[in-house]
Amino acid sequence: MQTIKYTFIGPIRQAVTMARLPLKGALKDEQLHVVQEAGILIKNEEIYEIGPYWDLYPEAQSIGAEMVNLKGDFVALPGLIDCHTHICFGGSRAKDYAMRNAGISYLEIAKAGGGIWDTVTQTRKASLEKLAQLTVNRSNRHLKDGITTIEVKSGYGLSVEEELKMLRAIKLANENTSADLITSCLAAHIPPKDFQGTQKDYLKKISEEVFPILQEEDLANRIDAFIEETAFTSEDIQSYFQKAKEMGFDITVHADQFRTGGSKVAVDFAAISADHLEASSEKEIQLLAESNTIAVALPGASMGLGVAYTPARKLLDAGASLAIASDWNPGSAPMGDLLTQASILGTFEKLTNAEVLAGITFRAAAALNLADRGQLKHGYIADLIFFPTDDYREITYQQGRLKPSIIYKNGIEIK
Ligand code: NIG
Ligand code: FE
Repeated sequence: MQTIKYTFIGPIRQAVTMARLPLKGALKDEQLHVVQEAGILIKNEEIYEIGPYWDLYPEAQSIGAEMVNLKGDFVALPGLIDCHTHICFGGSRAKDYAMRNAGISYLEIAKAGGGIWDTVTQTRKASLEKLAQLTVNRSNRHLKDGITTIEVKSGYGLSVEEELKMLRAIKLANENTSADLITSCLAAHIPPKDFQGTQKDYLKKISEEVFPILQEEDLANRIDAFIEETAFTSEDIQSYFQKAKEMGFDITVHADQFRTGGSKVAVDFAAISADHLEASSEKEIQLLAESNTIAVALPGASMGLGVAYTPARKLLDAGASLAIASDWNPGSAPMGDLLTQASILGTFEKLTNAEVLAGITFRAAAALNLADRGQLKHGYIADLIFFPTDDYREITYQQGRLKPSIIYKNGIEIK
């Protein structure tokens, strides 16, 4: 029988639970459920109770909880969730960044054979173990910033063997970091230059030879595709996504980054999320708002490319659910600082604290189809972060400068 361990943390100046909020639409700060002078009682890996510290104190004592006394003022939040990254990669694209800033566009670099293909070459050169180590290092950096769940995509392998190498590397990385890594297969990132056959032939091969192994080896249950001029068309992707759906995979889409089309595919396939959306117009915004597909803004990609932000305000006002992710990758989003990016998106798009924090907690959990995290609530995973401040508004106000100084993953403090 498993022994039961209770831990009682507090008093916490403010615990922002992110509970009791709607999944979709605009949010006001007044809607946030903030417990003042809070205590959090953890039972093994889960949150058992959250409430006023002195109300819970007698119970915590009587069940023999380990008392963790916080010295100073702290604001607690659920562990942050980054629902879109590409942190498994080899090499660097500092050269691309310099070229872009000298006036050559992302798509021009891609068309000239650089861009994503350059990272494919670097990633193919790296061993599985090396890629796993790089992924662990980047995950641990994220974890220090309070990001306890991280989605990680393949997509720099672009052949059956190389995609599987990446996916197995991410699985190995997951076993070697305290953060939870959620893997997505992005073999449909761009058509590989060295494949003999059409784009549809490539996608057919991946669906026949990679999809079954994803399930056999428990490598991923999410299928992603980049729908764009330099990647795959809406038409190319139909039978690929059809097959993925039939096999029970969740669908997610790189949509409307430079031109529209992707979000329609996402909604048609009832995708869990449609990510990017920088180019979405009123039509796509409406489509997403009427669907259950979570819209994911990637401000780090806008900052990395120097282009407009995802119309987050309009999406929320139309009634969509909005998550915010870093898109951390060597090309378009090299910074990888989720909290800074989400805060700055809030400044430019006029998002409330509630909307920004929802986008990196429970709405990001929904974008990963995870119902066990993203809120401070009974039964949820005890992923908790504590910011050294007495006012939750300081978090976005300091635009990412204020980081959490105490982090719990599955009820255990990460030192
Ligand atoms: O989400 N848009 C396509 N894929 C990535 C970029 C990957 C890269 O440039 O290496 C993105 O921005
Ligand atoms: Fe991406």
